[in-house]
Amino acid sequence: MIVEFTLNNEKVKCDVPEHFSLLRMIRDIFGLTGTKKGCDKGECGACTVVMDNKAVTSCTVLAPVVHGKEVLTIEGISKNGQLHIIQQKLVEAGAVQCGFCTPGMVMSAYALFIQDRDFSRDEIKRAISGNLCRCTGYEYIVNGIDEALKTRK
Ligand code: FES
Ligand code: FES
Repeated sequence: MIVEFTLNNEKVKCDVPEHFSLLRMIRDIFGLTGTKKGCDKGECGACTVVMDNKAVTSCTVLAPVVHGKEVLTIEGISKNGQLHIIQQKLVEAGAVQCGFCTPGMVMSAYALFIQDRDFSRDEIKRAISGNLCRCTGYEYIVNGIDEALKTRK
């Protein structure tokens, strides 16, 4: 079926099999492989993108549901080749190791970043609780996100 939506701030249109997930559509049709496929069943958060300003696991969203919506992937948050401040702060905090979980983690953080309010460390932890990382303690990740959120003031 034909699906039209906004992907990383550009209007796009594609013919996609109805059973495809948003994850499969953005990776296999649009070639945006920054969004990772982990469990493919909503449990690991590696596939997190922002849809209509909310973090969603793209493996659990069917492609036709995206019609008319706005989707941002990890490729859509950097500008002119510059890392987004969330990415910069995660790097500075030493929060990034294997990087398989990192794009999803960044997108969960981005969903906080675009909201017009402050977040406590507990709220940051809750926001990334669906993003599993097997390499780090979460402390440095929370530090990095916290520092990035502070730059909005
Ligand atoms: S790949 Fe989507 S939650 Fe794991
Ligand atoms: S840095 Fe997240 S799974 Fe390794």
